[in-house]
Amino acid sequence: MMLTAPHTWGKYSPDKIFAVVAEANEARKIYGNDQVVNGAPGTFLDETETIFCLPTVEEIYRNLPMNEVVAYSPLEGTPDYLEAAISHVFREYRPEGHIKAVATPGGTGALHNIVANYSSSGETVLSSEWCWGPYKSITEDAQRKFETFSLFDGDRFNVGELEQKITKLLQGQDRLVVILNTPSHNPTGYSMTSSEWQAVLDISGRLATAGKSIILAIDVAYLDYTEDQKISRAFFPLLANLPANVLPIICFSMSKSFTMYGQRVGAMICVSRSAAVAEEFFETNQITSRASWSSVNRGASKILSVIYSNPELVKRSDKERLESLQIIKERAAIFSCEAKAVQLNMLPYRSGFFLTIPCSKPQAVCEVLKEKNIYLVPLAKGIRVSVCAIPTMKMRGIAARIKAAIDFVRE
Ligand SMILES: Cc1ncc(COP(=O)(O)O)c(C=O)c1O
Repeated sequence: MMLTAPHTWGKYSPDKIFAVVAEANEARKIYGNDQVVNGAPGTFLDETETIFCLPTVEEIYRNLPMNEVVAYSPLEGTPDYLEAAISHVFREYRPEGHIKAVATPGGTGALHNIVANYSSSGETVLSSEWCWGPYKSITEDAQRKFETFSLFDGDRFNVGELEQKITKLLQGQDRLVVILNTPSHNPTGYSMTSSEWQAVLDISGRLATAGKSIILAIDVAYLDYTEDQKISRAFFPLLANLPANVLPIICFSMSKSFTMYGQRVGAMICVSRSAAVAEEFFETNQITSRASWSSVNRGASKILSVIYSNPELVKRSDKERLESLQIIKERAAIFSCEAKAVQLNMLPYRSGFFLTIPCSKPQAVCEVLKEKNIYLVPLAKGIRVSVCAIPTMKMRGIAARIKAAIDFVRE
């Protein structure tokens, strides 16, 4: 007998990433940490495989007055937090237009609100085929459908297929949410260029005809982990002057940018030429927050307000983050170089926490790798390698092991 309502049946599916991490931890107990590669986590682990917190963030957090930690936050977030989130996301690339923000529990909360408020039950949400798994869960949990376009055309963003899918979906519904994750896309590490952004915005403007609207959910969870953070923010001014029925909403997260993963703070930030659209965004999303989780973690949000009240603290936290970035870069460079040497095909990686090896039997390949004590996440059509988590010393030889496992499974 099922006590849960029919629309929830079949919901159970264990989280793959947490399951692989648990297996790696078990293997550590048996074989010792030195013998095990845990390439599954989605957090930056330093060279001792310890989760890293920006020292500036830790110092501010430990010195917060207790009333800031325990108090409720306003539903929309405190004004100083919202201004700090907007300043951090855009920096010197703040687009023209009406900008409004609502605090959310991480990027996940922003995506939840976008799906809840900009699509209707039974409608379809669009994202790329390679994507962060929870996009599908958030969408389907809200009783929407999830459809994808192929992310790549060669080693570039597949603008053509995105256009075809938007055209098709807008024939059957009036609003379409499109989720794009850039820069440093999870799981591939791809970053859209400004010209690819321009093409996406041109298409959106053209296809959002009268009575139709396109909501671009821009997931920037890894915004601060790119080679050049100026270049990665350079597309933001392009979001100005879009038609009022094309609404970009940036999903900001303190999880990676400020190493506050479990503290659950982020924001949704809209840019519109229409004051009415921005006001509607601000009012509507607060109510959905109220009905879902109430308000966000005030103490953690205060950290960002404190950092942005003092340019020295902004500089300091940037510098600290840059050190993690250099480590990730070095790990990824070792892997990419070795992958090339053994002719292991990789999806186009630019930067960020993960890279992906496409292959036809990912689950079987990951099982073979586990026998060598290498724990990676199998995706539908490939294997994700967390360069954010594997220490540089353990990185050498992994590409060759993956290549051998793929060849073994193919035989
Ligand atoms: C692509 C992507 N988007 C969004 C998130 C959301 O993270 P959070 O809800 O912690 O901000 C993550 C976290 O792993 C992610 O990988």
